[in-house]
Amino acid sequence: MKGGVAFSRVRVRALVGGAVFVAAASVAMAQGVVDAMRGAVPLDQEPVAPPLQNQENKDVRRTRAFAMQPPTIPHRIDGYQIDRFANRCMACHARTRIEESKAIPVSATHYMDRDGTIRGDLSPRRYFCTQCHVPQDEVKPLVTNRYEDFEAVRQRETSRALEGKGARKK
Ligand code: HEC
Ligand code: HEC
Repeated sequence: MKGGVAFSRVRVRALVGGAVFVAAASVAMAQGVVDAMRGAVPLDQEPVAPPLQNQENKDVRRTRAFAMQPPTIPHRIDGYQIDRFANRCMACHARTRIEESKAIPVSATHYMDRDGTIRGDLSPRRYFCTQCHVPQDEVKPLVTNRYEDFEAVRQRETSRALEGKGARKK
């Protein structure tokens, strides 16, 4: 009898576990894909890459998500040479070129070496611009997310806290 109870508990647990697994798997199946970037292509097959989109070229500086975010590039950069021979970006973004180019000069951090000394030339660690700065394509995010700017969260939380205080006074 004792053994029977223990056995059925194990079975119940196994059934619940199985149900959770099936539920999770069917959500993934309902969405059609497990990996949004890879798509539904089996692992042993090469997926066909989506066609390249046109880079956004609106020339409008975008809001940064946080203070130290490398700003995204608001203009096309295809064909711009960046290698050990030439840096096309600096032809416009160097301190000495902005009067003509009307570009935003690279900030002082780009001239700073690892000891914090501002050098005359671009620091080697900031030479390859596209390591940090990227152009944008007008595409839907591959994975949905609930990202909110810190400022929006702060405002919501502040007004919620103030409402709470008002309610307590009553
Ligand atoms: C022909 C001149 C020119 C070249 C070359 C150029 N830019 Fe720009 N860039 C600009 C101008 C002008 C702006 C100001 C916004 C606009 O008009 O697009 C700008 C804006 C930017 C911004 C936005 C800065 C901010 O604060 O939002 C970034 C980042 C940037 N460029 C990076 C690059 C990178 C990286 C390269 C090389 C791959 C490059 N640019 C090449 C002219 C240039
Ligand atoms: C290691 C990462 C990194 C590299 C490489 C890099 N940047 Fe930046 N860049 C940043 C960050 C972070 C910021 C924002 C904070 C700051 O100014 O340091 C920035 C800011 C900028 C800005 C805006 C300046 C301002 O005052 O608003 C421009 C323009 C820019 N970068 C252009 C370039 C160009 C052109 C290159 C290549 C020559 C380059 N960056 C290389 C990280 C990088």
